[in-house]
Amino acid sequence: MAEYFHKPVLLAEVLAALRPKPGGCYLDATVGGGGHAAAILEAIAPDGRLFGCDRDAAALEAAQARLSGFTGRFELRRANFATIADWLPPESCDGVLFDLGPSSAQFDQAERGFSFLRDGPLDMRFDKNQTLTAADFVNCATEEELEILFRELGGERAARKYARAIVRERALSPAGFQTTRQLASLIERIAPRTCARLHPATKVFLALRVAVNDEVGSLRRGLEAALKVLKPGGRLAVITFHSLEDRVVKEFGRAWTHARAGSAEAEAAGFCIPATPRLRLVVRKPIVPSSAEVRANPRCRSAKLRVFEKV
Ligand SMILES: C[S@@+](CC[C@H](N)C(=O)[O-])C[C@H]1O[C@@H](n2cnc3c(N)ncnc32)[C@H](O)[C@@H]1O
Repeated sequence: MAEYFHKPVLLAEVLAALRPKPGGCYLDATVGGGGHAAAILEAIAPDGRLFGCDRDAAALEAAQARLSGFTGRFELRRANFATIADWLPPESCDGVLFDLGPSSAQFDQAERGFSFLRDGPLDMRFDKNQTLTAADFVNCATEEELEILFRELGGERAARKYARAIVRERALSPAGFQTTRQLASLIERIAPRTCARLHPATKVFLALRVAVNDEVGSLRRGLEAALKVLKPGGRLAVITFHSLEDRVVKEFGRAWTHARAGSAEAEAAGFCIPATPRLRLVVRKPIVPSSAEVRANPRCRSAKLRVFEKV
């Protein structure tokens, strides 16, 4: 097994939000390397149980090893969290955690293709059983589709320019784009000069990853499913890393905390509006990492934790 390293983000804040109690039942919907899961299992000793879910077989292997001291009290499943209500009974969990996006281990392994800083295949799949990869989007989508994808999923202002350049460049070679470096260097060559500190390929890579893994669709379905598996009084904690996913969580919260008085945006975002509120906001503003945590783990700088309680 390749080395798997991931430092859990906002760990103390997640524990304070979920209030794990001995004997309770918890779901870590994105178990990754098992960092949050281990802390929850410790807090719910001696008899609490944890279900862990991930789309990535390598993450589950790492989590299995990390959690070996808790054998008999946890169960791991390779699944998209959109399906949790299909395999967990209704109202069975005291708390559910989503810690979204790729782990550091996924980012750092060049062969996964998530990072423009490492040369690897243009892959970006969380689940290697899926056939669709980032290369399929880059080589097969039309110029217009790429432009929309970069703008809507990545918030990229130069979306049209990049889409046009990709379509022009891929016509020159029968294999098209195969590697992260090929794509990143095209963008570096044509990026508008700004003094922004962000690498010019950041938003294009984000948009492709979100599209390859249907991250928005999975998140919407996963949040609705979490509501089904939570017990009344159970807590839902969600850590997001970019504005698109944070908006989905915010709209979900708005829909289910306000019921029919919920916002038109929530309805437009595809959440059905319940007759009575089903959730209570535990914190009004998202919780963000302390400056000490950001110094120790700069990757967590954009993390936002939102917390809800099922009523
Ligand atoms: C940030 S990591 C979680 C790290 C974990 N909290 C820890 O402490 O090690 C996010 C994980 O979610 C997984 N993931 C992303 N989307 C998923 C989905 N729709 N269903 C299940 N797992 C998903 C990724 O494969 C990744 O392993």
